[in-house]
Amino acid sequence: MRMIIVGFGTVGQSLARILQSKEEQLLIEFGFHPRIVALVDRTGAMIDPGGLDLNRAVTVKQKTGSVAQDTKLGRQGMGAKEVIESVEAEAVLELTPSNIADGEPGLSHIKAALRSRRHVITASKAPLAIAMPSLVEMASYNNVLLKFSGSVGGGTPILDFAKKCFSGNKIESLRGILNGTTNYILTRMMESNAPMDAALKEAQALGYAEADPSYDVDGVDTASKLVILMNWVMGRESSIKDVEIEGIRKVTPQDLEQARRKNSHIKLVGSIDDEIRVQPEQIPRTHPLCIGGILNAVSFKTELTGEVTIVGKGGGGVETASAVLRDIVDVRRNLAR
Ligand code: HSE
Repeated sequence: MRMIIVGFGTVGQSLARILQSKEEQLLIEFGFHPRIVALVDRTGAMIDPGGLDLNRAVTVKQKTGSVAQDTKLGRQGMGAKEVIESVEAEAVLELTPSNIADGEPGLSHIKAALRSRRHVITASKAPLAIAMPSLVEMASYNNVLLKFSGSVGGGTPILDFAKKCFSGNKIESLRGILNGTTNYILTRMMESNAPMDAALKEAQALGYAEADPSYDVDGVDTASKLVILMNWVMGRESSIKDVEIEGIRKVTPQDLEQARRKNSHIKLVGSIDDEIRVQPEQIPRTHPLCIGGILNAVSFKTELTGEVTIVGKGGGGVETASAVLRDIVDVRRNLAR
């Protein structure tokens, strides 16, 4: 299975390491050998139709900041669209930090890949938050798969859980802690009186924050994930414009103290019922959504079985790469069929 990776940051490099370390397991367990035939970053590309040496690619990227610097395989200035349209591959992995204003550059990459009839696996939330219904339709029209497990929940399969585990039942509403960075910040503010800025710096150092951390703090990241859940799980077409968003900037030490006295914590909660909303809320310590640190959790209110909650690690390089790997295996299974 030949793949092009667009965006070679934390997630892309974690994926490269995982693919190397799991080469034998993937062959034995699933009978395939994934080959990365091209890597693209902001500066250009690195291409080998026979499959890139990923060790070499990570080394070049870490030493020079640019895959195009590889003396033999690098292509300075070659853009993602050109690579997607000219290099033969079954799938394109879109892993860029895209912009929430217009979903770019990820949106154009995904469209180019779907038009070229490549399966698409993405961990970018912005293109989905802006244009999910049309991208899903485009994939179906071109008869290819569009997979996005890494966009919500990272290491915890929230989308698959919601989509596949309630057959015959019905999800009526949901509430979730969908952003690890703000959960980490609020936990540190609550438990150690850490100032918001210092706690954000720690979350950035741990590799959880977005390239633009205001997406985390101002609730945009949570809102994007809600839009993906809304379209994919609830079957209701929507975009980020439909979400009422309030981030955590106005949460004060006094608010936290007041919550503590009520035996509660303040969390940034994303919810879908009649409306789609992101806002700080008090959650009783005894509620399953009251999880600390960088964890994510979603409680689904279901018609037949009441509230069901899934909890686990969300974003982070390895966690998100693990979700991309799940999608790669899934695409491969479909190809084999
Ligand atoms: N910045 C995101 C978070 C990364 O903190 O949850 C995962 O989407």
